[in-house]
Amino acid sequence: MGGGASTQFALTAMNFLKAGKVGGYILSGSFSEKAYAEARTLGDARILASSKEDGWRTLPRITDMPLASDTAYVHMTTNNTIEGSQFRDIPSTGQVPLIGDMTSDILSRRMDWTRFAMFYAAAQKNLGPAGVTAVFIRDDLLKEGNEGIPSIFKYATYVQHKSLYNTPPVHSIYMMKLVLEWAVRQGGIAALEERNALKAKLLYDVLDSNSDFYEGIVEPSARSIMNVTWRMKDEELEKRFVQEAERHGFDGLAGHRSVGGLRASIYNAVPLEACEALAEFMMDFHKRNG
Ligand SMILES: Cc1ncc(COP(=O)(O)O)c(C=O)c1O
Repeated sequence: MGGGASTQFALTAMNFLKAGKVGGYILSGSFSEKAYAEARTLGDARILASSKEDGWRTLPRITDMPLASDTAYVHMTTNNTIEGSQFRDIPSTGQVPLIGDMTSDILSRRMDWTRFAMFYAAAQKNLGPAGVTAVFIRDDLLKEGNEGIPSIFKYATYVQHKSLYNTPPVHSIYMMKLVLEWAVRQGGIAALEERNALKAKLLYDVLDSNSDFYEGIVEPSARSIMNVTWRMKDEELEKRFVQEAERHGFDGLAGHRSVGGLRASIYNAVPLEACEALAEFMMDFHKRNG
């Protein structure tokens, strides 16, 4: 589908939130909060679990989540792009459809896809250039879609027309095809996962073995293998780190503008060598500024 993941925040609720039913939201970071806020403009949405009080440094507990019988669906974000946390375990929601925003970790690791009745991922992290979003929906959920909404916003329309109801963003789709072929050539998801875990470990090891200088933001058990976030003693030092890193060829290490700190986004396209070089730079920077 054309558009970004934010479009899906609205469309999921528009299609599957019904009168008398409630959309259940697991809040684990700012994108999940945005999805929840969007659903609230369309109907009744409730927070099932949240780690906001921990400053998103942990993940909310989602095992044994009691689900009321009027729950239309459960929505979760599998990887929290800005905060740098990622769910290892996907909850079982029984008969209640689970909807996942996988924008920042699709294709990064093996996943029990069968847990989800629907998942979506905007292309711009692991799938290709922005402009298109991959959407997967199980037939049984598709049948539940609301009728009284415009055709262009109905998932059923896209399925009936094989994604060609209107002009799709063909360039982004073509690029996604090339990226998917590349992913297969790398050995598929299992091989990418292995490489991503190694890449992330290199950086987390530096944070852990230099903890007097770098402070990992996310609790170790919740750490993401796609977005590694950390802080330093003060903003001045962080600024210097970013500037020096840029001079060494490391771009975009400043944390998201909404949270500050530092963030290394190590999506599939980032090679192992780049993480090795960054780990080395980080250790050297510590030596010179510690
Ligand atoms: C997990 C997640 N969800 C949603 C979004 C929003 O995506 P878009 O900018 O395509 O609307 C992003 C953007 O990076 C994201 O990382």
